[in-house]
Amino acid sequence: MFRRLETASPVETVTVTVGGKPVTLPRGETAAAALVAAGEATGRTTPITGAPRGPYCMMGVCFDCLVMIDGAPNRQACMTEIRDGMRIERQVGARRIGG
Ligand code: FES
Repeated sequence: MFRRLETASPVETVTVTVGGKPVTLPRGETAAAALVAAGEATGRTTPITGAPRGPYCMMGVCFDCLVMIDGAPNRQACMTEIRDGMRIERQVGARRIGG
C-alpha cells in the first residue's frame, strides 16, 4: 500500500479530522493522504452495491477517493490540499451532483 517518505528537515504541519479523528500531516498534503494516515482504507461506498472504495491512483483519474469534505460531497480527496480544521468524512452511497 502507500507509505510516507521521511523528510530530513522539520516541516510545518496541518491538523484535520478524518471521521472525527484528528490527524496531523505536513502542509501541502492531500485529503487522500490524510485518509491513509488515519488508517482509513475506505473513503466511500458505491451507490449500487455498497462496495468499499478508497484512494487508488492518487492523481485524479479513478475517482475512487470521493469523500465528504466540510460537509460537501463528491470531493476528490487526492486533488484536495488539506488545511487546518478540515473535516474529512466517509461518503456512503450516492450523492447528488453539485451538492
Ligand atoms: S485516488 Fe484516484 S482520483 Fe483520487
